[in-house]
Amino acid sequence: MEFQGNLPNKLPQVGTTIFTTMSALAAETNAVNLSQGFPDFQVNPRLVEMVNKAMRIGHNQYAPMPGVRVLRDVIQRKVKRLYNADFDVDQEITITAGGTQGLTTTILSTIREGDEVILFTPAYDSYAPIIELAGGSPVYVQLKHPTYLPDWDEFKQVVNHRTRMVIINTPHNPTGAVWSKGDFDMLATILNGTNIMVISDEVYEHIVFDGHQHHSVLSHPELQHRSFAVFSFGKTFHATGWKLGYVIAPANLMAEFRKVHQYEVFSVNAPLQYALAEYMQDDKVFEIAEMYQQKRDFFHNLMANTKFKPIPSFGTYFQLYDYSALSDENDVDYAMRLTREAGVATIPISVFFNVPRQDKVLRFCFAKSESTLAEGAKRLHSWSNA
Ligand SMILES: Cc1ncc(COP(=O)(O)O)c(C=O)c1O
Repeated sequence: MEFQGNLPNKLPQVGTTIFTTMSALAAETNAVNLSQGFPDFQVNPRLVEMVNKAMRIGHNQYAPMPGVRVLRDVIQRKVKRLYNADFDVDQEITITAGGTQGLTTTILSTIREGDEVILFTPAYDSYAPIIELAGGSPVYVQLKHPTYLPDWDEFKQVVNHRTRMVIINTPHNPTGAVWSKGDFDMLATILNGTNIMVISDEVYEHIVFDGHQHHSVLSHPELQHRSFAVFSFGKTFHATGWKLGYVIAPANLMAEFRKVHQYEVFSVNAPLQYALAEYMQDDKVFEIAEMYQQKRDFFHNLMANTKFKPIPSFGTYFQLYDYSALSDENDVDYAMRLTREAGVATIPISVFFNVPRQDKVLRFCFAKSESTLAEGAKRLHSWSNA
């Protein structure tokens, strides 16, 4: 018999996500799938061998609650090397089940009923539902088309005594925008004298192009004491299915985080943590930007023959294209039609807004092999020039 009770709907706005819809449509229509953000190439075989080794030698039981010590050690050294920031291995670094759990646990451990959390839209889709689950309210500030950088005057207008947190994301999904040091300085100036915390979603920290530099919240002297920084091994090592990442925050904030973390997951995948600790001994493994820049440029050159207009991508493995020369349709309809008729699946970016805004742009994921990118561009070329 079916459950007849009155099911309390905790997330009434949430239905099937566009990622599920587009990937299902791509599979059904045999389209080249440039929608969801994951690589179609393999993890380094050396890392796979290190995972095998970790399992063979018996690292198969619960890891310590904050994560395996040797992994936290290499993270601490990495953060010192890249961001000149000193964080305590025992108290300030925690290994999580991907960036997603890092975000969720941070929000659940800090946001209470009635708190407001400021988000910049378009925004990664997991932020708002978790804020709502925690009893808080998302407050939205729109990033400006086509740079997708914040308007600090608009941001200032929404800060008030209920604001508990701001979520920032650079390099930015879905737009590829990258914050300058000046953006961080503006944020610091506005937050100065408040108790507002920051989540800095830096899962694409190593994918920054054209000589731009990733600025981490961890290196900002006025922001680091109020911030949680969230990272993802999945994004960096082409292993999104591993769902492993970490969070760094000052001890007082991390203590609250861990109270939730220990009952939410207690600890995460042990053998992967040992393998990553071994793999990350070599600093070169983080040098992935050039490979992605080549992919971006490869796709960009092929797309130059189409009527899709690129919006510069300075980081991440996403590239926006403006389709306004091709159609007046809204982006969801257009993306569906592109999948069915041209055979290429993309993501319409209106879905990253609370109230869909029609910039007439689609997000393409270029974390794909050259043959996939070439086939996608070929199909778009013949379709858009037909
Ligand atoms: C901006 C952003 N944050 C967080 C995540 C989640 O990272 P993970 O796959 O490690 O959970 C993603 C994944 O797409 C992302 O794009």
